Amino acid sequence: LTRTLIAPSILSADFARLGEEVQAVDKAGADWIHLDVMDGHFVPNLSFGPPVVKALRPHSTLPFDVHLMIEPADPYLEAFAKAGADHILVHVEAGPHAHYLLQRIRKMGVKPGIVLCPATPPEAVSELLDITDIILVMTVNPGFGGQEFLQSQLGKIRRIRDMITHSERDIRLSVDGGINPETARLAVNAGADTLIAGSSVYNQSDYAKAIAALRV
Ligand code: DX5
Ligand code: ZN
Repeated sequence: LTRTLIAPSILSADFARLGEEVQAVDKAGADWIHLDVMDGHFVPNLSFGPPVVKALRPHSTLPFDVHLMIEPADPYLEAFAKAGADHILVHVEAGPHAHYLLQRIRKMGVKPGIVLCPATPPEAVSELLDITDIILVMTVNPGFGGQEFLQSQLGKIRRIRDMITHSERDIRLSVDGGINPETARLAVNAGADTLIAGSSVYNQSDYAKAIAALRV
């Protein structure tokens, strides 16, 4: 059985002390660091870009899981790869040409991932299983931390778990949005193996305890 991985999202960290906040969750038992990049166009919020990823890189050796909520993603892939991303995830809704974007990311020596918004059906990944290393199911509409987990997405997680099993490829199935100890259990029971959590880690005083509470 694969171990459930926990990836704290720094979107809910103290932005004035981002380096320390990355070090703190690394020390507290995180498996990956999740970095949410927003453009104020694909999602109605702005966060940060490649210079911040680069500045944080010396603060942890954990894989940097870079979630691009930008449209188009194409012109920025190289900059995020150079900044130190280990995984680059693009939205299937943002385009252009998801398969091509994933191919380009892989050629840069970075693990490619594909992300699905709540309104997108599981079949959207059916022709990407040969090229993607990560499938991320959004369990909130992207743009903000601290939203409520959408239980309606559990069927999609189950369906994609079946698709991954049939593909016989080593693909991680992540969930992002509204993850807390209760919803973590629902997501893992449905087939998720990687949990992204912003507010349920960074809004707690004891990060190690918060991360441990998410391990199902
Ligand atoms: C939302 C981001 C998430 C966000 C999750 O657009 O992709 O990674 O930080 O925050 P929580 O865990 O608070 O829902
Ligand atoms: Zn995210």
